[in-house]
Amino acid sequence: MARLVVTGSAGMLGQAVAAAANAAGHDVVALNHGALEITDAAACEAAIVAANPSALINCAAWTDVDGAEAEEAAATAINGGGAANLAAACAANGVRMIQLSTDYVFDGSASGPYLESAPVAPQSAYGRSKLAGEEATVTAGGDYAIVRTAWLFGDGGTNFVDTILALARERASIDVVTDQIGSPTWTGHLAPALVALAGANSQGIFHIVGSGSCSWFELASAALEAAGSGCEVTAVTSEAFPRAATRPANSVLASERGAEAIVLPDWRVGLAGHLLATGVIDSSASAAAGAQ
Ligand SMILES: NC(=O)c1ccc[n+]([C@@H]2O[C@H](COP(=O)([O-])OP(=O)(O)OC[C@H]3O[C@@H](n4cnc5c(N)ncnc54)[C@H](OP(=O)(O)O)[C@@H]3O)[C@@H](O)[C@H]2O)c1
Repeated sequence: MARLVVTGSAGMLGQAVAAAANAAGHDVVALNHGALEITDAAACEAAIVAANPSALINCAAWTDVDGAEAEEAAATAINGGGAANLAAACAANGVRMIQLSTDYVFDGSASGPYLESAPVAPQSAYGRSKLAGEEATVTAGGDYAIVRTAWLFGDGGTNFVDTILALARERASIDVVTDQIGSPTWTGHLAPALVALAGANSQGIFHIVGSGSCSWFELASAALEAAGSGCEVTAVTSEAFPRAATRPANSVLASERGAEAIVLPDWRVGLAGHLLATGVIDSSASAAAGAQ
């Protein structure tokens, strides 16, 4: 058993990480935004000294991707500056830090999956702010792992799968983009992997995502089919959905870490797990869909 601090513990991933750490028998200090403002350096230091954990998993972040375009300084203060505060406090107190990052640090132009060593070139304010968090984590000089993940869905937060299911209850058909591909990842699979990584010794960057890849169109189609929805899904290109922030066309992540690589189950298994956990399907439908 270890003591783990989870920051951003009321967020979608933070809730799953706190639950996974509890389930693994750890002593969990869950700090939501009200309990710790990560842009406050003194508060970060005080919280870490008070908790005296072996590791911290930072799930706190500015996650409004489009909103960051107009408010890049505010996003960077949290995703860069907040991460820097936590990393400095962790390094000063001998605490291992697991910092969450994103596929949006890449430009999306590669023809295959992005490995950990691929050159970064964020195309959005959010991507730049998360890259600042990665750099701050390294600069602090402590024990760290940076985890880039992507296309998260899970209970207790806004996510694409739940949004599509909600839209399908109101509409007969939905347009979904087919020219962006990525690695959908269930928080129920990612969270235990983060807890395990918090207890490991490995350093550096890790790509941890659901296995396989698909487009948003394929993900929406799979979710609606599994849910037994009669809603039609029409494939459209990104031009049909102008957004403030540029999204990478190719967001697929993979790992070059060999034996150290953390490979999660296929995204379809994660999707079934999420639909089961949220009561959209029952266990017989989940078994048919291959959930574990
Ligand atoms: N969702 C995805 O698809 C995705 C993909 C790749 C990577 N990630 C990364 O995964 C991590 C978790 O994301 P998520 O989807 O769980 O996001 P989320 O649901 O938006 O949770 C983020 C949490 O951070 C808190 N927070 C925001 N600003 C804070 C601050 N200044 N101090 C302390 N807490 C603060 C938020 O609290 P309030 O709501 O009260 O502000 C919220 O509870 C983030 O690092 C994100 O960049 C997410």
